[in-house]
Amino acid sequence: MNRIFSGIQPTGNLHLGNYLGAIRNWVDLQGDYECLYCIVDLHAITVWQDPAELLASTREVTAGLIAAGIDPEKNILFNQSQNPDHASLAWIFNCVARLGWLNRMTQFKEKAGKHRENASVGLYAYPNLMAADILAYKGTHVPVGDDQKQHLELCRDIAQKFNSDFDVDCFPLVEPMILGPATRVMSLRDGRNKMSKSDPSEYSRINLTDGREDIALKIRKAKTDPDALPSEVAGLEGRPEAANLVSIYSSFISKSPEETLAEVGGRQFSEFKRDLTELAVSVLGPIGEEMQRLVDDSDYIDGILRQGGTKARVISGPIMREIQEIVGFVQP
Ligand code: TYM
Repeated sequence: MNRIFSGIQPTGNLHLGNYLGAIRNWVDLQGDYECLYCIVDLHAITVWQDPAELLASTREVTAGLIAAGIDPEKNILFNQSQNPDHASLAWIFNCVARLGWLNRMTQFKEKAGKHRENASVGLYAYPNLMAADILAYKGTHVPVGDDQKQHLELCRDIAQKFNSDFDVDCFPLVEPMILGPATRVMSLRDGRNKMSKSDPSEYSRINLTDGREDIALKIRKAKTDPDALPSEVAGLEGRPEAANLVSIYSSFISKSPEETLAEVGGRQFSEFKRDLTELAVSVLGPIGEEMQRLVDDSDYIDGILRQGGTKARVISGPIMREIQEIVGFVQP
């Protein structure tokens, strides 16, 4: 049986990269699969989080997912700490994964930077928890942006090693689903860096809560080059900012960059940016408004997360018992 699992961190604002790289695909997949969508608060605390901000962000991200179209009745929407099975399985995976595997993780190197000795143990073991998130439900498909590819390869390695160490066929090998023309949305200020919550420049990203004025300003200020848009994808070579705006535009209109360029090739950026602004406002405007409305009702949001947590535990419970038996633990 196919089962989708994906996660998102409750840190900072949801941005266009999260939306086009992940959330929009989650919405599209929800009718065809059993889906678990998780706000990963255990992952968030691998770096320091102010408790009040973490709580507010968890509710805000939940509101954002519902506003974007995730149906909390048809899917399982919950925050990770509601289900202790994630942390229990992560411990087992800490004992399966090898130090050498984690040493190769580029996101740890990027996040820990020069202060490696001072990074939390949790940040280092982050990918093991991510594998546990998915495999506690025997998830088979994981829709994510391009930046999560290496973590999902590690999840496959862990599943394979567990199966072979214990000579069982317990875990599936997960399939990453990296979908659409905007799998890696780049910063609006520098087309070589990923759009991210941690970029100090507000102009580098469009947030789902940005109003028309902010969206228009950020797109107008987005870095471009002096040439007109090419009519073929080959003409985007060496033009990372132009390529980024074309993939964002393509994603909004659900076409490939080739099809987009066949339409807009030859135009100047000023005109293209005006159209892109209208598209962004028409898609993001209603989501931002609905998100603001929902976030004020924290009782509703907390109720959704608790209900999701209960449904999640019903699925992971028997899987955890199977795993405990395989490992040789006395059943609780
Ligand atoms: P996070 O919170 O950084 O991002 C959530 C999702 O948004 C995608 N994304 C992007 N896609 C395209 N362009 C961008 N600039 C961009 N920025 C973010 C991410 O690829 C992701 O799909 N480790 C994960 C959360 C996680 C998880 C999991 C995901 C925890 N457990 C299990 C899948 C399965 C993360 O930090 O995502």
